[in-house]
Amino acid sequence: MFENVTVAPPDPIFNIFSSYLKDESATKVNVGIGAYRTDEGKPWVLPVVRKVENMIVNSPDLDHEYLPLDGLKSFTDASAKLILGTNSPVILEKRYCAVQSISGTGAVRLGADFLKRFHDKTVYLPNPTWANHQSIFEDAGFTEILEYPYYNPKTKGLDINNLCDNLKAMKENSIVLFHACAHNPTGVDPKEEEWTQIAKIMKEKKLFPFFDCAYQGFASGSLDKDAWSVRHFVEQGFELLVAQSYSKNFGLYSERCGCLTVACQTPAKAEAVRTQLCKINRTVISTPPAFGARIVSKVLNDPELYKEWVSSLKEMAGRIKLMRRMLFDELINLGTPGNWNHIIDQIGMFTYTGLTKEQCLLIRDKFHVYMTESGRVSMAGLNTKNVKYFANSIDQVVRM
Ligand code: LMR
Repeated sequence: MFENVTVAPPDPIFNIFSSYLKDESATKVNVGIGAYRTDEGKPWVLPVVRKVENMIVNSPDLDHEYLPLDGLKSFTDASAKLILGTNSPVILEKRYCAVQSISGTGAVRLGADFLKRFHDKTVYLPNPTWANHQSIFEDAGFTEILEYPYYNPKTKGLDINNLCDNLKAMKENSIVLFHACAHNPTGVDPKEEEWTQIAKIMKEKKLFPFFDCAYQGFASGSLDKDAWSVRHFVEQGFELLVAQSYSKNFGLYSERCGCLTVACQTPAKAEAVRTQLCKINRTVISTPPAFGARIVSKVLNDPELYKEWVSSLKEMAGRIKLMRRMLFDELINLGTPGNWNHIIDQIGMFTYTGLTKEQCLLIRDKFHVYMTESGRVSMAGLNTKNVKYFANSIDQVVRM
């Protein structure tokens, strides 16, 4: 029956995580998976999340009834406002829909399933992009999954000229996937004037934007600033999709809490889109899980809790920035060959070090340092205790 089944290739991110867990070395360092850690190297349940969790669990009203197909309304409404802005014309004119998803991955997949049915089967992904994007669009049945230039390895920054030239050459209606902020894996985002340039070409060429937003609040520490790209496209009159994840900014990794928001031209269209998204949810997950959405909803809808959340977000973003500075300083002190400015120039959870695959394998074998083979480092895995060791490992590998 299963003669044709072969072993699937390991996931480039989760496989490194399981190898790290098996490693018994006392000095091992996990900078593979993008998950926040404290300065003690421990996962962090945000104090406001813990507080709200207790409120929910101890509430006499708690039940485990099904949510509607599009999820918890107080959560999806608040999610749309969080990304688009409370005063967005799309929100004020009620021409959007927001549907709960299985975190960011589920939101991208839901969007891909929808676009494949109702829009176009050509999608352009940035090169490089999050390791899962290609597979999501493949599994959704996209026939043309192409890439556009994004990162320039020479400058370790944005390849804006090539990016724009490529946009100009795309065929009408193509879907172009963008990371709203804190690009994964490079940590390189377009500046506001570059987003403006990109949006202008997208409009002229009638291209369709799909934003993946997994790090709102993590890039700059400001929720509004990190939503700038999406809001700018909305202001320019685009219809668009945006996938939101609450894994990182709420630390709700295992609760799989996310949302797909669609900005449309009219309220009637938004309602039609909503019903189609519900129909897809029904066959894939039936109805979304409630716990994470209840937590996020309470926080986003209560000004005091919201303030507490923002302060934790700033703390996480600040600690990551500090790690960038410390790593950079250590490498400079060691005189490590190469230019390391990009460590402090790049933003968000990741640094794209520029280390080769061979160097990444070497650093794993010799120093028990786990990073993806692309040279991506999750800065949240560093702390004041391991950053020196990590810098030393890089220094030695670079000199080998
Ligand atoms: C990552 O890129 O490490 C995270 O987004 C985790 C994941 O799902 O890949």
